Amino acid sequence: MEVIETKIDTHSAQYIENYAHMENLVARLREALRVAREERSEKAMKRLREQNKLSVRERLALLLDRDTPMLEIAPLAAYDMYDKGVHGAGSVAVIGVVHGREVLVMASDPTIKGGTIYPMGVKKSLRCQTIAMENNLPFINLIDSGGAYLPLQSEVFPDVDDGGRIFYNQAIMSKMGIPQIAAVMGLCTAGAAYMPAMSDEVVHVKGTGAIFLGGPPLVRAATGEVVTSEELGGADLHCRESGVSDYWADDDAHAIQIIRDIVKNLPNPGKSRLSTVSPRPPLYDPTEIYGIVPRNLSTLYDVREVIARIVDGSEFHEFKALYGPTLVCGWAYIHGYPVGILGNNGVLFSDSSLKATQFIELCDKRGIPLVFLQNITGYIVGREYERRGITKDGHKMVNAVATATVPKFTVMLGASFGAGNYGMCGRGYSPRFLWSWPNAQIGVMGGEQAANVLVSVKNDQLAREGKPPLTPEEIKAIKDPIIMLSEKESNAYYSTANLWDDGIIDPAKTRDVLGLAISASLNAPLHSGPQGFGIFRM
Ligand code: COA
Repeated sequence: MEVIETKIDTHSAQYIENYAHMENLVARLREALRVAREERSEKAMKRLREQNKLSVRERLALLLDRDTPMLEIAPLAAYDMYDKGVHGAGSVAVIGVVHGREVLVMASDPTIKGGTIYPMGVKKSLRCQTIAMENNLPFINLIDSGGAYLPLQSEVFPDVDDGGRIFYNQAIMSKMGIPQIAAVMGLCTAGAAYMPAMSDEVVHVKGTGAIFLGGPPLVRAATGEVVTSEELGGADLHCRESGVSDYWADDDAHAIQIIRDIVKNLPNPGKSRLSTVSPRPPLYDPTEIYGIVPRNLSTLYDVREVIARIVDGSEFHEFKALYGPTLVCGWAYIHGYPVGILGNNGVLFSDSSLKATQFIELCDKRGIPLVFLQNITGYIVGREYERRGITKDGHKMVNAVATATVPKFTVMLGASFGAGNYGMCGRGYSPRFLWSWPNAQIGVMGGEQAANVLVSVKNDQLAREGKPPLTPEEIKAIKDPIIMLSEKESNAYYSTANLWDDGIIDPAKTRDVLGLAISASLNAPLHSGPQGFGIFRM
């Protein structure tokens, strides 16, 4: 395969400036992740030790096979929300390896408000269940949660995609044959009691673990009955009398050992096969991506330079290189897995959309996973392009992306605006995983454009009414708040806080993250349903 020859001068002023900028963004990301993973109140840590419990990270370290890679999901969910301390939305979720088998582990964090479930915590649980269902991953739930975070109960309880959906999904997953194993590691109350109850197998920690629909204070208030947590829902009661739990554990470490034994005995259906090759690193250092990506999102650069630092041997077999040049399509290997890559090199035109459609059809037919490197301000606008049918050509691309059955993976490299987000497999198009780089921005359009649209709508309205156009002060009063809001809400951190992605990643780790995700996806059949496409408007 042809090797991508880099044209990057790593000594140029531009490269050095870009590099420093991205390095800062990555340093900020590392610090945000450190805080989310490590910073807990002294009071909460003291309480954890008093109860003789392990921390979430200690539990995970015991559960997962030593020295195996793990992929964390949404570590910055709920970032900057609530009181700014609900790290990861109150839970940790990873795809990791247990006895050589890839599994999804979700663990409530008792050091964040008793592991209670915030609205974003519900969203994270639902996202993890979707990942388990789409990729056929056993789901391990380490539950240590007081159920709904009561002050926000109206946001976690009533709607179709609120708390009840978690248990609904558990029933569906059970029917699908996705193993669900729960460990009861704290006082699991109300909603958190249903999580183990709806699982296939339940391990229950003596003393610290309990399952009840209402805890002792509620029982006392409701019926006058005075009981301890252990009497009301402890391991003895549920393992010997009620039958709610299946395995009795002495402590956290014992419970985790039992879970490992359960996983060891699960039937292993094997993974889908791709025509893999021996993995090789790229020819160029992936950290050079820092110097390639311009500081300003609207400055164009060649996405091949990024591809060269993601794929094995920097080898890329480009498809239709001379046609529709604003979208680069081609085949490569990532950690030995074959992939079809689509990367933006400018605005999408009719020809680039048609090229994408054909390329997606080819990959789907051949069973090759798709990787979208998204950096797109949208589809081209203007009378000439409308006349040539940009909307119907864009539709073909969007249609193909939506109905492709091979696993799809999306990385937001920079801009993600307008329908370009759809055509390049944004969240609504069900990529198996979606990550953002720290410089990424997402929105219907840029803040400045959105503000200008609103100013022009207002001026048209005034003209219709025979009134004079807006003054510069009035224009400023309309534009400023829109631009400010857009800057806040299009930011990668806002995006990841709201679970519009599965996490912000260091651009230099893109190749490794993709490799792990492709590996996880192969636990499900290669095609997610019957192959074939809908009607392509001609
Ligand atoms: N909603 C909101 N906050 C809650 C909460 C809930 N359901 N349950 C606990 N918290 C908060 C506590 O107020 C405390 O906050 P603070 O750190 O700011 O003081 C923190 O979580 C830790 O609670 P604490 O009781 O000190 O810790 P613990 O480890 O001894 O017990 C629980 C944790 C969750 C078992 C216990 O607090 C409890 O039983 N909570 C009530 C559970 C319940 O009835 N849920 C019903 C949901 S429908």
